[in-house]
Amino acid sequence: GPGDSCIMVIFGASGDLTKRLLVPALYNLACDGLLPERFAVVGIALDELDTEGFRARMAEDIRRFNTRKELDEGRWSWLESRLHYTTGNFGDESAYLRLRELVEQLNSQYSAGGNILFYMAVPPSLFGTISEKLNVAGFGTFPGWKRIIVEKPFGTDLASAQALNREILAHWSEDQVYRVDHYLGKETVQNILAFRFGNEMFEPLWNRKHIDHIQLTVNEAVSVEGRGGYYDKSGVLRDMIQNHMLQMLAYVCMEPPASFAADDIRDEKAKLLRAVRLFTPEQALANSVRGQYGAGTKADGTPCPAYREEQDVARDSNTETFAALRLFIDNWRWESVPIYLRSGKALWKRGTEVVVQFKRAPGVLFRGTPSGHMSSNRLVFHIQPDQGIETIFQAKVPGPVMRLQSVNMRFSYGDSFRAARGTGYEVMIYSCMMGDATLFSRTDLVESAWRIAQPFLDAWASRPAPDFPNYDAGSWGPVAAYDLLERDGRRWYEVI
Ligand code: BG6
Repeated sequence: GPGDSCIMVIFGASGDLTKRLLVPALYNLACDGLLPERFAVVGIALDELDTEGFRARMAEDIRRFNTRKELDEGRWSWLESRLHYTTGNFGDESAYLRLRELVEQLNSQYSAGGNILFYMAVPPSLFGTISEKLNVAGFGTFPGWKRIIVEKPFGTDLASAQALNREILAHWSEDQVYRVDHYLGKETVQNILAFRFGNEMFEPLWNRKHIDHIQLTVNEAVSVEGRGGYYDKSGVLRDMIQNHMLQMLAYVCMEPPASFAADDIRDEKAKLLRAVRLFTPEQALANSVRGQYGAGTKADGTPCPAYREEQDVARDSNTETFAALRLFIDNWRWESVPIYLRSGKALWKRGTEVVVQFKRAPGVLFRGTPSGHMSSNRLVFHIQPDQGIETIFQAKVPGPVMRLQSVNMRFSYGDSFRAARGTGYEVMIYSCMMGDATLFSRTDLVESAWRIAQPFLDAWASRPAPDFPNYDAGSWGPVAAYDLLERDGRRWYEVI
């Protein structure tokens, strides 16, 4: 059914996120009957706009960013009539008083019960100020629930994430804070839990006795393309690995939760992340490879400039656009099972996958037969753009002799389910309205993830990368990433 009645306040309403993702997501929710009748949106930002101007802008943008085939004019005007706007500087207390007045008025007009959802579509440097000013302006006295959605990036290292948590938690309690990690909203990521705990066939084997190693890959074909100002201070470890990939890793490796309640799941994720071995900077170097792309040609044939030639990137930048790591989880289930992670930009192809490589079956029966090299079982979660699950196993090649060959079985989402394409933000907004924090990160989770990333950040920051650029745009990434696994007698399974 529809989410809980509320007024949604969007900070940064004139920005990219609002027009590309938030408003289209609200529209999709409206189409699916998941927005409450008692609902309105207030946008606030620096742009000098009034409500009419804001509506006109959104009405234009939705025609570009709508994810459905055709715009349902009826549904859109229902939503449009609920959009409001106020201009404001986030440091200015009078802006919050005006905002408060508007929210009060809409709250009574729509009987929203005094529930307010604040969406921080602004840079993290503003989270603290906004939290504080909301408090000063007396938003705490509204009778309903108050929840705040915080966008990434959540800090740039452990210390800044801790400081940010302190700032936010000075004015809000943990259960009011919803930290977005949009990977948790992906159906195929959520399905990892359904697959692991809804089936009997695999979970009993899900441990060091049967699993040789695990690989997580998030390859991107896009380059930095205009985001240099942000990216050059970030790099792939902060941008993809510390957040999205460690969250996925937690789903793949965590213990069964006591229930599917938000905190039961998050407790298990937190336990798992706490068990990931914390390296010294020297160990971090020995267990990682970093890369930066040079000029090349993308898969679609378009030329791609070197990272150091991108707009707003330092000409001698040491920022990594690719990284591969080898991690270990020091707990009962996973002792000495390597976990390999890699992600990069400007690679030959886009693809996110989790590969679970099982150990080889005993080969004794096939010894002396022409079966050749015996392979082992593999399970692949195709996260995106392909969505599905694949198992690789051995079968007998037809013929008079016993010969084995690897074959596969594949489940594809598209074959079994029909779902309207969305922005990925629908489930985030809806969950927050319902008070369900399952898909959001928690203070301890964020900090544990930074603790894992920190030695890599430290090691790389203190040592320039003399070999940058070390892979061509449009290629498979740096050769050293292959050596990282070869040393262990293993190899990456390519996303094909
Ligand atoms: C974002 C990163 O969090 O995730 C981007 O900032 C990256 O650099 C994006 O491209 C990838 O998301 P998706 O959903 O396209 O895999």
